[in-house]
Amino acid sequence: TPSEPQEPLDYQHSGYGELENKTKGKLQKQICQVVLDHFEKQYTAELGDAWSSVRDVLTLPWCWQHALLLNRFSRCPGLESSLAEQGYHPAFPAALPYLPAAFRCYIRPAPGRFPAQKHQPGKLKEYYLLNAASLLPVLALEVKDGEDVLDLCAAPGGKSVAILQCACPGHFHCNEYDDLRSRWLEQTIESFIPDALINLVMVSKLDGRKIGDLQPESYDKVLVDAPCSNDRSWLFSADPQQAVLRLMQRKELSSLQFQLLRSAIKALRPGGSLVYSTCTLSKAENSDVINLIRNSCRDVMPVDISELARGVSQEFTFLSGTQQHELLVLPEKGRAWGPIKSNI
Ligand SMILES: C[S@@+](CC[C@H](N)C(=O)[O-])C[C@H]1O[C@@H](n2cnc3c(N)ncnc32)[C@H](O)[C@@H]1O
Repeated sequence: TPSEPQEPLDYQHSGYGELENKTKGKLQKQICQVVLDHFEKQYTAELGDAWSSVRDVLTLPWCWQHALLLNRFSRCPGLESSLAEQGYHPAFPAALPYLPAAFRCYIRPAPGRFPAQKHQPGKLKEYYLLNAASLLPVLALEVKDGEDVLDLCAAPGGKSVAILQCACPGHFHCNEYDDLRSRWLEQTIESFIPDALINLVMVSKLDGRKIGDLQPESYDKVLVDAPCSNDRSWLFSADPQQAVLRLMQRKELSSLQFQLLRSAIKALRPGGSLVYSTCTLSKAENSDVINLIRNSCRDVMPVDISELARGVSQEFTFLSGTQQHELLVLPEKGRAWGPIKSNI
């Protein structure tokens, strides 16, 4: 997810002092003008009037919010009352009946974030800090106990952790191609999952584009949380030349996303479900990829997720006018979640 995919990665592995410094550094970081200009043009055309309020949130890190996903395998007495004292409340209240009672995510309208917990070998963490919108792809997947699940692009592991808060899969395959990020993923799993369940989880370092051929029709549920433009962090690119290069190479991302999705579909059992998500607003990496897949894979049926959208409408602002199988979370002040795009 943030910004989502990269930032929490740092938070989860930082000590508090280090985290404070990072936060200050982030607040002082400059907007990368070349990226902002590019987004201004593209997103005004794609989102119309909605873009200016989204831009105001994305360019002001001090108004960003963070959620805490509690670890059902390591409950800390007193944490929930301490969160309540600090203005946090449970997100997704009873709106989603299939969620287990043990699934707890806390949010608050005020910006700022709770201190991250340091990784300590052999000790489970009590919560994971994340952008609340990154839970939507996991909720849309509706994993049930005993199902075989593949998280195709899993590092740093926020959604893998969230899946394990919802259900106990029969077999859970978490894959990450990048070597360093794959180690982070292993560390996340180790920090959140008790030894008794660790055997359910397999971490691999494969190219996700190959998994469909390696393991055809093997999974009931597949999550493709694809590598993408990551609007939040791109806006704060420190190196303008690198930013220009990334913008030029953006088209290649759509092609990678399409190939990952095609592989994921191959890995899915007949009747299984797949969620494709990104943390960019870009139509080329969202609807266009899905439309291309729908035109090239005839046996893929879109699923209506408007009920999920209604169930969580208190917490999120969605772009209106999208198709029933798509949700685009638009960050706004006080609900500064997203961008996250989920398709099922
Ligand atoms: C958006 S991030 C995933 C975030 C993660 N799902 C989470 O919630 O913490 C996308 C990930 O895909 C990985 N990736 C890029 N190319 C890949 C490929 N060909 N196969 C598998 N993973 C890939 C990236 O290294 C990155 O870690």
